[in-house]
Amino acid sequence: MERLIVVSNRTPAQGERTQPAGGLTVGLHEVVQTRESLWFGWSGNQAEDADAKPVQVESGETVSYATFDLTPEQYERFYLNFSNGVLWPLCHYRTDLIRYWRADAEAYYAVNERFADRLLPYLRSDDTIWIHDYHLLPMGKRLRSLGVKGRIGFFLHIPFPPWSVARVLPGVDRLLESMTAYDRIGVQTHEDAENLRGCFAACGLEAVVEACPIGIEPESFRQTAISSAASDEVRKTLRSFDGHRFIIGVDRLDYSKGIPERLRGFARLLERYPQYCEQVTFLQVTPVSRAGVESYRALKQQIDELVGSINGAHGTAAWTPVRYTTHGLAREDLAGLYRHADIGLVTPRRDGMNLVAKEFIAAQDENDPGVLILSRLAGAAPDLVKALQVNPLDADGIADALHTGLSMDRKARHEAWSVMYGEVTRNTAGSWAKQFLDSLEMATT
Ligand code: F6P
Repeated sequence: MERLIVVSNRTPAQGERTQPAGGLTVGLHEVVQTRESLWFGWSGNQAEDADAKPVQVESGETVSYATFDLTPEQYERFYLNFSNGVLWPLCHYRTDLIRYWRADAEAYYAVNERFADRLLPYLRSDDTIWIHDYHLLPMGKRLRSLGVKGRIGFFLHIPFPPWSVARVLPGVDRLLESMTAYDRIGVQTHEDAENLRGCFAACGLEAVVEACPIGIEPESFRQTAISSAASDEVRKTLRSFDGHRFIIGVDRLDYSKGIPERLRGFARLLERYPQYCEQVTFLQVTPVSRAGVESYRALKQQIDELVGSINGAHGTAAWTPVRYTTHGLAREDLAGLYRHADIGLVTPRRDGMNLVAKEFIAAQDENDPGVLILSRLAGAAPDLVKALQVNPLDADGIADALHTGLSMDRKARHEAWSVMYGEVTRNTAGSWAKQFLDSLEMATT
């Protein structure tokens, strides 16, 4: 089997190499462990002299890592301003949040060229190259112009909007044209595939696009949940709930995740179904993300205020309705808490897939499973049809779903869970990577 070259902006940090946490690293963990691989990308560090510093290579038995730094200016223009200040809001249908500057776009293309130039010396002629995510959309074109002839695939982990939205981006045709260098482009859902095909067609371009929904490693996550369910940390959190039932939400602090919308839904539950006051607690775990982007700072302030106002309006001296932290929790603690939670509340306004939803299902106790409430705008929604599906903009709909979920008997919960667990175990991280790489294999170069 040929060597696999994985390229992504963020590469797994040391601790994540054995225990992956983010969506992309969870998805790729298995495939790079099972065939000779080189994982290439940003180290996560910035240095003024980054362009003069060599690539750092850490060789492993199966997978090796090759990483390099970005200069502070590249970090700002390429990562913060263009990738996360233009492409991220565009792909999540938030054109109102786009802050476009031509200099940032040029820096984005220049850094993509830098990725390709720095990778070139490590390539062999028979490598299969798999590039990931919106930071690196034009990288394949540069590799082709440097003479790379082998198979190059690309996977987009976030949604892709229809032409009516995509064409808002200045220079969208240049970006789409650069993507025609790939032999295969994978996206999460059929809707994303249709949208991207429509964009290529609108520009008179051709590319092979296919839907290939990402999964998790359900068995290992389930085992983590089982072994952590009685850990000291999980028990300490459960004791602090003082016997109340609890709802859990876990997301990076991002406007695509629908966190204020979810908080409003919980507030409506307390207003319309007061029997839950002092009976149910909502735990929202929201590690701060991309704090260098203005829209993320504004969101943090909005959530801080909303949590304060809900707790002020509904809390008592003995009960805090919303428990909220902007620090991450260890993955095993999250798994253990999912297993005990009555409800997993996942309400993105848009999401490529949302692996929290799949992990929540994998973590459940089959004899007494919790209920998943899931936004119909998450990429996971077409797969997890037995979740209680909601529109994140409808606070009353979220409140009704919470009431339904908290009232469901064990038999109904088990019926819904077992269908979803079947889906989560059928469509895994391993089968996702295999499906995409098999398809890439068929491409003639
Ligand atoms: O969902 C897209 C994504 O790029 C993931 O691949 C990654 O885990 C996540 O966003 C985190 O983003 P960042 O690298 O900006 O922290």
